[in-house]
Amino acid sequence: MDEFVAKKVYVETYGCQMNISDGELMEGILVEKGYEVSNSAEEADVILVNTCAIREHAEERVLGRVGQLYGIKKERPEVIIGVTGCMAQRLGDNLLQRAPYVDLVMGPDGYRSLPEQLERIHIGAKSMPSRSSKKRGPQLAVLDLDVGENYEGLVQRRTSPVSAWVPIQRGCDHKCTFCIVPYVRGPEKNRKSSDILNEVREIAEAGRTEVTLLGQTVNSYESDGVCFHELLRSVARIDGIRRVRFTSPHPNDVTPELLRVMAEEPAICEQLHLPLQSGNDKVLRRMLRRYTVDTFLEKVTLARDLIPDLSLSTDIIVAFPGESEDQFEDTLDLLRQVRFDDAYTYKYSLRDGTPATRFPDSDFLSNEEAQIRLTKLIEVHRSIQNDINKGEVGRIEEVLVEKKGRETSQVLGRTRRNKVVAFNASSEIIGTYHQVLLTGTTGATFMGELAN
Ligand code: SAH
Ligand code: F3S
Repeated sequence: MDEFVAKKVYVETYGCQMNISDGELMEGILVEKGYEVSNSAEEADVILVNTCAIREHAEERVLGRVGQLYGIKKERPEVIIGVTGCMAQRLGDNLLQRAPYVDLVMGPDGYRSLPEQLERIHIGAKSMPSRSSKKRGPQLAVLDLDVGENYEGLVQRRTSPVSAWVPIQRGCDHKCTFCIVPYVRGPEKNRKSSDILNEVREIAEAGRTEVTLLGQTVNSYESDGVCFHELLRSVARIDGIRRVRFTSPHPNDVTPELLRVMAEEPAICEQLHLPLQSGNDKVLRRMLRRYTVDTFLEKVTLARDLIPDLSLSTDIIVAFPGESEDQFEDTLDLLRQVRFDDAYTYKYSLRDGTPATRFPDSDFLSNEEAQIRLTKLIEVHRSIQNDINKGEVGRIEEVLVEKKGRETSQVLGRTRRNKVVAFNASSEIIGTYHQVLLTGTTGATFMGELAN
């Protein structure tokens, strides 16, 4: 056995659920090779920062963090620092130049070769003359996007005893003009449905009862003659699975069949994330979202008709290039009309290489203008959310207990409608389902009391 085996790896993940799932995949791949997972960078021999590229702010945070990690490498030069994920793919070799103490950059399709690349760096360092002041291996960049890579046959390391992320699709075939994802994760590729179903069966056998199916446009899934709503129904019928969620669907692929499956299958939660982005047709067209406000609203109405008590969430971008004050107001009006239970709100962030960078300079709003809009949007959303959630106080909901709360006697769980509830109970009930009376709300989350 090689000497490098049984070293400690620390993976720090930023960004979306898909990236969290990728972090678990990297851990799984390395554990399989004898690595131990460490919970702290200070104790690790290999530090992987699994990054996000969706907005500039996300990247700045990561660059700052990577800079901090340099401190560890100064003290222990043999530590390997890797940057993985979407920002690694986007910046590639540039990142190695900007941060010369980084040993490895690896994009989202490179993880299968992670053990081998770490080994190369390790062996390179060992073979340096011992008096060399910088005893380190080669700096490696693994940046090929691979349409054939969906990580079949590899085992994800699942840390939650309760729920599991299940990536069913990687990449994206859309080209929303603001979005970097298609460039850093490549075109859409779907896993075979039989592989997905086998994996969910294993998840259930291991005692996890909740699964979340993941993909960039998860509901455009289609593979070996199985489309998304068919897959979803099969997943929901697997013995032992009590809750099924999925994210992120594209509004255009929200079909009546999908909504019917959601309504019919008891395991599928009454929750739908429907990214709107803007409430104005001209802006939507410039974003290349391929739907209009009216068609979006039709989906919302149909979903609410078919699935009683449906909880809806969305993503909104403000200050997209060329967005006028009136067009922004249209977004606010639409929020007031739809009344989303939750909204993830963003200021437009320019991403090099995306089509939106080609709009004329005069279309771009200043950060100050964007911030004013964002603040206003958040205010409108919070007031709606507060209203909705106050109306839910007094209900008794089924809660799946997920983890300890901030206070020692408290646990945190979620309702089927994806609302977070904190209540007093022993942490021994983590992983189990309980009826909980919602006694109050902070606006976004709930306080509760065990009702059974
Ligand atoms: N595949 C998902 C979106 C992935 S990105 C979907 O279609 O819904 C998650 C969210 O980040 C997007 O919905 C969008 O609201 C936001 N986002 C993406 N690119 C952005 C950018 N350049 N600036 C600001 N927000 C962005
Ligand atoms: Fe991005 Fe649009 Fe795809 S938001 S991930 S290009 S659906």
